Amino acid sequence: DVPVITIDGPTASGKGTLADEVAHELGYWILDSGALYRATGLAASRAGIDLDDAQAVAAVARGLDLHFRKGRATLAGEDVTEALRAEATGLMASQVAAHQPVRDALQQLQLDFRRAPGLVADGRDMGTAIFPDAGLKVFLTASAATRAERRHKQLISKGISASIEGLRADLEARDARDKSRSASPLKPAADALSLDNSAQTIEESRDLLLRWWAE
Ligand code: CDP
Repeated sequence: DVPVITIDGPTASGKGTLADEVAHELGYWILDSGALYRATGLAASRAGIDLDDAQAVAAVARGLDLHFRKGRATLAGEDVTEALRAEATGLMASQVAAHQPVRDALQQLQLDFRRAPGLVADGRDMGTAIFPDAGLKVFLTASAATRAERRHKQLISKGISASIEGLRADLEARDARDKSRSASPLKPAADALSLDNSAQTIEESRDLLLRWWAE
């Protein structure tokens, strides 16, 4: 079977960056599952659909015309790379991700990313719901203060100003929603290894994961 490494954790914990680094080192494919929920939220809201209408949003998820090529994402032919990363899109993602029919609609799409020689998948339920047989499951955390600072730096680098306090409140609200929902709530898989990377560099986290993977 094609090997899978899963990295789950709360918002701005550094999952995406770590997944990219590890996939690059191993020559594996990458699944940014959050992008699928983000694209679903964006497509539904653009179509004027009520994001609380689980069935209507699930229909959007089933018909998602989303493609990733050379680091760019297109939705129905339009480049949405920046739009997908916007804070507002993250909030829409967490709203549509709470619906089980939406999660079911995106399941096969996620499984299709499993291709030789291997896959690194990041999200909220990669180790619990989508790839329960993964060879290595990591639950990545960082303190709320650290995560707010990292998000702040990201935004500043894009020329967007935001208050750290506001960002921290937003990410804590999103975490609370992701943890308390009934559909695939954010929680570590029973066999996940926990990693708090608050005081680690990305290289230190990457090397630790690669050691775990080699064991
Ligand atoms: O890293 P960040 O939280 O900013 O964004 P993301 O990983 O792209 O996820 C956006 C939202 O999608 C999360 O708040 C979750 O509600 C949802 N999501 C999910 O439910 N399951 C996944 N596997 C990935 C994301």
